[in-house]
Amino acid sequence: MALNAFEKFAIEIAFAAGAIIRRGISEQKSYSTKGTDIDLVTEYDKEVHDYLTGKILSTFPNHRTWSEESAIGERAHGFFDEGYVWHVDPIDGTINFVHGYPFFAVSLALYKENQPLVGVIYDPVHGECFSAIAGNGARLLSGGESQSISVSDASKLVDSIVATGFPYDRHQNPDDNLAQTAAFLKKVRGLRRSGSAAIDLAYVALGRLDGYWEFRINSWDVAAGVLLITEAGGTVTLTGGQAFQLRPQISLVASNGRIHAPMLDVLESVKRST
Ligand code: IPD
Ligand code: CA
Ligand code: CA
Repeated sequence: MALNAFEKFAIEIAFAAGAIIRRGISEQKSYSTKGTDIDLVTEYDKEVHDYLTGKILSTFPNHRTWSEESAIGERAHGFFDEGYVWHVDPIDGTINFVHGYPFFAVSLALYKENQPLVGVIYDPVHGECFSAIAGNGARLLSGGESQSISVSDASKLVDSIVATGFPYDRHQNPDDNLAQTAAFLKKVRGLRRSGSAAIDLAYVALGRLDGYWEFRINSWDVAAGVLLITEAGGTVTLTGGQAFQLRPQISLVASNGRIHAPMLDVLESVKRST
């Protein structure tokens, strides 16, 4: 199947998932916790998971899915380095969704032999769909228009806005990203924490943000966003500067390329001082 056919399919199901999410925006949501007290899951996360994985596996029976809400042991679900795998975050930004803070998105990406082919991030509140095909650039679909997108040209941290996120075990685990956040705050023009890694990465691809970093993030949070950024002319590496490769959990830096080395330097200086 041609990559643009996979992209068309991914955009269609992301829009349908967005319609499910939109139903819940103004409702009072009930939720339960998983892992830690601040890691939430709603009925909408599960409904979108069922919809997306159901559509993917019925359309492509030889593909597999790795979704945040996969139940352990479910057939065809898992992180695999081989074959076709869809990395799915049904709702990235669940805490925002529960609180009515309007930053959350559907994120889905198709990988083959652990290499990205297609990535789609759909923000149903702002009606923005970010999409990339490997080797074919990245674009924003909004208001019925499609435009190709590219990263910003900021070349200094002092001229940049960067974003980050914090792990859900931060109440217990001292590996909480606070020292790194403090160090960046002293160097950049602005620092943001949207609560949706997928939107942060899409905004780096679009040039609204200049860089992003996060430690120990899951593959479904970043699988689509990293392709958007590289296709929009940016750079993605591990926090130590090594080449990026998708793993179940990753610590990564994503940027417009120009501020990549200065971002790595900030992280390195914190590492040396702790
Ligand atoms: C979370 C968000 C958040 C990031 C966390 C993610 P979720 O995803 O992307 O911005 O800092 O690391 O787990 O739980 O809302 O899907
Ligand atoms: Ca997520
Ligand atoms: Ca999620």
